[in-house]
Amino acid sequence: MDPVQAGGGDVSPKVLDALRRRLGAGSDGVPAAGEPDGPFRPPLVPLKLRTIDAAFALPEVTSVADLGGVWAVEAGYSFHALEQHAPERAVLVDDDITPGVRERAAAFGQFELLEQNFGLERTPADVGPIGVVLLFDVLLHQVDPDWDEILRRYAPHAQAFAIANPMWSRGPDTLRLLDLGEERYRQAVPPQDNLEGLFGRLDEVNPRRARPWRDVHDVWQWGITDTDLRATMAELGFSVAFAEQHGPWRGLADFEDCAYVFHRSA
Ligand SMILES: C[S@@+](CC[C@H](N)C(=O)[O-])C[C@H]1O[C@@H](n2cnc3c(N)ncnc32)[C@H](O)[C@@H]1O
Repeated sequence: MDPVQAGGGDVSPKVLDALRRRLGAGSDGVPAAGEPDGPFRPPLVPLKLRTIDAAFALPEVTSVADLGGVWAVEAGYSFHALEQHAPERAVLVDDDITPGVRERAAAFGQFELLEQNFGLERTPADVGPIGVVLLFDVLLHQVDPDWDEILRRYAPHAQAFAIANPMWSRGPDTLRLLDLGEERYRQAVPPQDNLEGLFGRLDEVNPRRARPWRDVHDVWQWGITDTDLRATMAELGFSVAFAEQHGPWRGLADFEDCAYVFHRSA
């Protein structure tokens, strides 16, 4: 399946290889031998681009914060917003910002990069008042603070949220995926290298994230239902301005490929 059409934030091995080769070419942005000239642009998911465009169609949206916008897409959704919608301000928050992102960002005077955890209590204030918060394939990774607390923390600062997320389609309730046990967990989520031995080290501290493995954002953490996401946003005073659902997320039976824009209604 064409990875661009496949939806979601994980990308096919082919695209990842291309990204690794490109990043391995050096942080100076010089293409490796044999690659065409010009900066590497990872493919972006059309559903996510439509979601950004739908958010910017709202008159109150004139700025954007992309939370967790780096891995495998090199902040491509921030750059789409910058190039297509000329926001007065854009902020990218990610624990791991690459040299390539910094280099491309330098062309945009209104683009701020914050290399920090977006779940920290202080980060929403660091971001400041913002038109739309992008949460693309990141909500299901958030623990302590959990996904709904993240929404709660940013809600007072935001006019809208654009969310793309594999949504738990097995219902009826939202659940912590690790509670499924190793066999069912591995059946439900995409294969990843860091799942090897994960269940044996859940209580060990992951030195990179300074928290136990059971709480790191590097693995799939939540099965969030569509009902719970909509209810949480309604409780925060946001209503649906845009929503699309596209069946199984990259062929996973337990997750549906969904995207939403919620805007402040109260
Ligand atoms: C699955 S990738 C999603 C990338 C992109 N948003 C997309 O849709 O393709 C998750 C990204 O979010 C970052 N991330 C996840 N949780 C985070 C957190 N709480 N604070 C900072 N960065 C986070 C990771 O470093 C990674 O770059």
